[in-house]
Amino acid sequence: MRRRLRLIGIGPGGPDDLTVAAVRALNEVDVFLVADKQRGVDDLVAVREEICRRHVTGDYRVITVPDPPRDRAPSAYGTEVRDWHAARAAAYESVLREQVAPHETTGFLVWGDPSLYDSTIRVVERIRDRGVLDVDYDVVPGVSAVSLLAARHRLVLNRIGGPITITTGRCLAHEVAAGGDNLVVMLDGALECARLEGDWHIWWGADLGTSDEELVAGPLHRVLPEIERARARAKAARGWVMDTYLLRRAGGVGAGS
Ligand SMILES: C[S@@+](CC[C@H](N)C(=O)[O-])C[C@H]1O[C@@H](n2cnc3c(N)ncnc32)[C@H](O)[C@@H]1O
Repeated sequence: MRRRLRLIGIGPGGPDDLTVAAVRALNEVDVFLVADKQRGVDDLVAVREEICRRHVTGDYRVITVPDPPRDRAPSAYGTEVRDWHAARAAAYESVLREQVAPHETTGFLVWGDPSLYDSTIRVVERIRDRGVLDVDYDVVPGVSAVSLLAARHRLVLNRIGGPITITTGRCLAHEVAAGGDNLVVMLDGALECARLEGDWHIWWGADLGTSDEELVAGPLHRVLPEIERARARAKAARGWVMDTYLLRRAGGVGAGS
């Protein structure tokens, strides 16, 4: 029997930032698989549980799956990530085989939108490739942290007719050296933007959608101390902080648009 998996974008943390389609999909799930990252970010599991409590009206089970260990500063980043995807696929596969009946629908609560810096689609593709289980899946889009950042600051991300680069803290310096001057940065625990030279403007947000949301905007080097303070506040409030920001070089083509 073909198993049905649903990858459901749940927004970036706020219990209200789900689409109607996502809520409908949540209510068709029998079993949710939740990765237990074992890194002291229990609040993220708690947020997912709160979303289920709030939006699911019927019965469901939650199975936490211990995340395979991962080297956070590997020498070969791509290889390390691919190995980790394979280990995660194997872990999910054994839980599906041992704890989920073939007729049950399995749901994955994907943070933000599944298309952006998330491995769930790749991991589920791995499960299919392994060929042990007959699975099919669909993807329900979610509100990304990027959408929420833009909304909170009332931004259009691209300048008129111009490009927008979405990148990570790790790749920021490279993208700027390659000419990027309008960039959204995610996954940046070290505020890499502080190293940039020149005249930049930043629109920053942390823990968007939650009651501890923080927002700062202004000339980059002038507002950095304010961002550091807001970041520390958000971290103290819930034990974790996730932030996203738009960086725009002043004076570029259409800079004011
Ligand atoms: C693994 S990525 C997941 C992105 C997610 N799929 C999305 O669409 O937003 C994690 C990064 O997303 C951003 N992020 C996620 N939730 C956030 C939030 N509530 N507020 C600000 N940034 C957030 C941060 O840059 C964080 O480092």
